[in-house]
Amino acid sequence: MSDNPYQHDRGNKDRSLGNPDGMGTMDTTKKSGPTSQTSGEPFLIGANMTGGYGRGGPDILHDCTIAVEKGEIAVIVGPNGAGKSTAMKATFGMLNLREGHVTLDGVDITNLTPQDRVGKGMGFVPQTSNIFTSMSVEENLEMGAFIRTDDFSETMEQVYDLFPILREKRNQPAGELSGGQRQQVAVGRALMTQPKVLLLDEPTAGVSPIVMDELFDRIIEVARSGISILMVEQNAKQALEIADKGYVLVQGANAHTGTGKSLMADPEVRASFLGG
Ligand SMILES: Nc1ncnc2c1ncn2[C@@H]1O[C@H](COP(=O)(O)OP(=O)(O)OP(=O)(O)O)[C@@H](O)[C@H]1O
Ligand SMILES: [Mg+2]
Repeated sequence: MSDNPYQHDRGNKDRSLGNPDGMGTMDTTKKSGPTSQTSGEPFLIGANMTGGYGRGGPDILHDCTIAVEKGEIAVIVGPNGAGKSTAMKATFGMLNLREGHVTLDGVDITNLTPQDRVGKGMGFVPQTSNIFTSMSVEENLEMGAFIRTDDFSETMEQVYDLFPILREKRNQPAGELSGGQRQQVAVGRALMTQPKVLLLDEPTAGVSPIVMDELFDRIIEVARSGISILMVEQNAKQALEIADKGYVLVQGANAHTGTGKSLMADPEVRASFLGG
């Protein structure tokens, strides 16, 4: 049971933003379980999640399931207040679930703290306040590496290769950057732990269509390196176009689920959520 449960082929070993061996450094919660070969579940799944905020708060999520396969992009869309961010937070361990479970690579992580989930290979970029505005770009990336005790300079170079503008602005306070550049800082910060899966809550919020396309291209690049992407998007059409899998949430529950293509083609989804 002391085996690393995360040993697997990741492909693309030469320039991987991911980490084939998991963090390994401050993994004090070795609760080994079966590996994904035996579980048959998606790589990451928040399954049948029911719960809300605080103790005794009303349920926001109702039997809600979101998941992503290895190296794929899954997109969550839905109206304002549908519970998209709540579902992401629940998957990251920021909610006390009354029912449901979260499994990463075949290991049940339902009872782990968010920090321990980072140790297991999850990166999370929240919808708001996702950078330290008074710190420099580079300091933000260093903060992102907070759980690492090894040399993370190579990962930082990989982030700078992915987002070259950040290399240029490495010494500027992150708060002085444009909206799109700040989102790059936020994603870059999350990449510093070499996650296996990235949770992104509206990474293109408030940016122009051109910058959105550019960010999506970078997100595709991250997925191709083997890192799974689970993201909430307000730009539903464009996001479903690049999604392997899509979820439409309404009032804390799954309303429609399918491949990005099938959801785009579904007349009801189009009429209700994609503006016809
Ligand atoms: N910290 C919180 N405490 C209590 N209730 C909350 C909290 N955050 C969100 N809620 C409630 O949970 C419900 C779902 O909110 P959530 O932020 O998950 O929706 P969303 O789909 O992400 O919306 P948006 O598209 O505006 O980001 C809303 O009714 C909201 O008022
Ligand atoms: Mg939200």
